[in-house]
Amino acid sequence: MDYKHIQNIDKTKDLIVPVKKNDSKSLKKYTSVKDVNFNGDFGSISTLYGAKGNKIYLLGIGEDKDNVKLVEAFRKLCFETKKYWSKSIQLVGEELSEDDIRKAVTGLELGTYDIGQFKSKKEKATKFTVEVSSSKNIISQLQEGKLTGETVNRIKALVDAPANHKTPEFLGNWAKESSKASNYKCTVLHQDELKKQGFDAVMAVGQGSANPPVVIINEYMPKKGKKVDIGLVGKGITFDTGGLSIKSSTNLHYMKSDMGGAAVVLGVVELVAKLKLNVNIVGVVCSAENAVDSNSYRPGDVINSYSGKTIEIIDTDAEGRLVLADGLNYIIKKFKPEQVIDLATLTGSVVQTLGYFAAGMFSNNTEMSNQMSKVGYETNERVWPLPLFEDYESDLHSDVADLRNFSGKPIAGAITAAKFLEAFTEEHKSWMHLDIAGVSFGDSPYAKMKSASGYGVQLITNYIKTKVAE
Ligand code: BES
Ligand code: ZN
Ligand code: ZN
Repeated sequence: MDYKHIQNIDKTKDLIVPVKKNDSKSLKKYTSVKDVNFNGDFGSISTLYGAKGNKIYLLGIGEDKDNVKLVEAFRKLCFETKKYWSKSIQLVGEELSEDDIRKAVTGLELGTYDIGQFKSKKEKATKFTVEVSSSKNIISQLQEGKLTGETVNRIKALVDAPANHKTPEFLGNWAKESSKASNYKCTVLHQDELKKQGFDAVMAVGQGSANPPVVIINEYMPKKGKKVDIGLVGKGITFDTGGLSIKSSTNLHYMKSDMGGAAVVLGVVELVAKLKLNVNIVGVVCSAENAVDSNSYRPGDVINSYSGKTIEIIDTDAEGRLVLADGLNYIIKKFKPEQVIDLATLTGSVVQTLGYFAAGMFSNNTEMSNQMSKVGYETNERVWPLPLFEDYESDLHSDVADLRNFSGKPIAGAITAAKFLEAFTEEHKSWMHLDIAGVSFGDSPYAKMKSASGYGVQLITNYIKTKVAE
């Protein structure tokens, strides 16, 4: 969609009017209907007709506390009503702050997401122009909202894509193309290079698949000769069968989404580059397919890792922490970032703990976790802290190797997974792990089956923005 700034609303044309809770008096300007029966409840939508037969879409934006969900309200409006829109539509933006306008545009853009990429007969998408009225200069908000929505849609398309299309190699190509379009550096390490450089854990996870693993390194460094401000690492398992510790077939098809962390990393680097933020960031994606095969790694195997620490495999379904161990150790040794954040659909345990409404957050740096909590609340992509107490460490003891990949106990799974990762961070003082298994992929009003949420791109980009402001 295109977005245009206008000074005044033309009341004879179609328009969208955001209405706060119990504030329908503001509607008098646009309709002659005396008693508009619309109370502005969050997410409620109603269509009226104006004097010239033009359509007026009322969108309830609720109370002040609902402001953090504004993106969602506009997404819903676009998703539900765009089929009735004419080519251009106006949005009454006078009552919206600059930040609200950015959120509104992001939401409208998200509402255009088409989940049916693989249908043989695709619906033809209309190219709408949304004209936003405001007395303020909102050009940068329109641009940022559009770029954010577009990037999140691209990330959703990746997570929703089936694993036969979305191989590790495919993710590498995606990153290469994105880097050319958005001006950052992208390196894809293939099998020979991974072997040579010692990514043994990534190799072990991927060795049972016909689709070989890759490690993607995206560098966006506008501050020449300066340190890396933030290093991001993403779990990119393109399909998680569990390996020889095989998963049950119920809902197994959803394991195509086990690269949700990688998708966030790819999306954030692309968006930060598009927004030309003045911050040096590196994104590392460790991608493999966890398959069942005669070449698959086995429970009981002892493998090496990029760090040199040896790992006893107890369960081949605890594969995410293995690829992340290599990714974390690599980014810390090679790029020495000030802060490191990894994102992964890592454990079923975090879903048991927090459900679908917050990611599990682990960090050894309270300043980082406080900041992330704040940004998470503001973007409505929430995080909740979980502990890294030393007491959990003994669960990862191995008699035969430096550590094992699973405690073997059905308790505190998200925490022991985080403790495992910590062992590969070289005692970095500013590390954060986000377990996004419950929030990355799930039910929504926009699809009949579970689908990608796009969680994380706005969270991490806005977190990075706070670094630019420092
Ligand atoms: N990819 C899964 C975690 C997951 C579960 C993601 C549900 C999204 C939804 C991960 O690789 C996994 O299988 N974890 C196991 C670890 C266990 C074997 C130690 C789990 O959490 O059950
Ligand atoms: Zn697994
Ligand atoms: Zn997994």
